[in-house]
This record gives sequence, structure tokens and C-alpha cells, in this order.
Amino acid sequence: MVKCILILNGPNLNMLGTREPELYGEQTLDDIKNICYDRASKLGLKIDFRQSNAESELIHWIQEAPKNNAAIILNAGAYTHTSIAILDALRLTGVPIIEVHLSNIFQREEYRHVSFVSKAAHGVICGFGSNGYELALDATAKLIS
Ligand code: DQA
Repeated sequence: MVKCILILNGPNLNMLGTREPELYGEQTLDDIKNICYDRASKLGLKIDFRQSNAESELIHWIQEAPKNNAAIILNAGAYTHTSIAILDALRLTGVPIIEVHLSNIFQREEYRHVSFVSKAAHGVICGFGSNGYELALDATAKLIS
């Protein structure tokens, strides 16, 4: 059976393309979604690609994830640095979690150096722009094979 990977995107990532392009690049979230679909099909994986600005919706999707998904790739946006609730939800899943950021959060403001997501993540990919999502899919494919 083809395995499915949940790719979750947090707040303000729906604004990619116009949002601080010097930091996040010029691609829209739809562009990144298409890149992920292409990569996943080459890897023989299915993906479920979603975005929400609401912490509660992200938590709901994380709680439901193990029913249909073998792993979660998560760019939690600013919730990365604030949300113990998302961390608690991630810890309950029992599936591998790969944290992604478009920008290199360690080169930026100090408040972005803390990641609650990292405490539940198998690994972190940051600073590679949209390519980070492809790298995360490659890593996930190996992890779950
Ligand atoms: C981000 C980094 C976060 O600090 C920021 O709040 C975002 C995007 C990234 O992909 O680089 O929304 O997760």
C-alpha cells in the first residue's frame, strides 16, 4: 500500500509569494505544494498538504494524522516558537515528525532560535527555502522504508 505523508503548514505561510520574499522566496504555497506532489510521486509516496492559521485546527490535524499517515512534515511558522500545545499533540502521534523552515531560523532574531516542535521532531531542515520540503520528503521516505 502507498504510504501517505501529512505536510502541515502554519500561520502566514498562505501569504508566501508576497510575504517578505527576501526571507521566504518568491514561490507561493501552491508552488511548494506542486513541488511536493512531484517529489512524492517520484518517491512512491502520497501526500496530504494543508495550511492553517489556527493553532486549534493544526492540533486537530496532528491528532488525526496517525490514522492515515506514516509521518508528518511540519512547518509550524511562528507557532514553532510558542506552542507547547502543538508539541504535546506531536508527542502523542507516534509517527516520525520532520520539522521544516524555509529560512535559517538560527540566523534570525533570538526568539526564533527556540523551537518547541524540535523537542518532538526526528530532525530539522531549515534555510533551504522550498527545497527544504523536498529534502524533508527524501528524508521521510528513508525513515519509513
Ligand atoms: C518559518 C520561520 C518562523 O520563524 C516564522 O514565524 C514563519 C516561517 C520559516 O519557514 O522560515 O512563519 O517557519
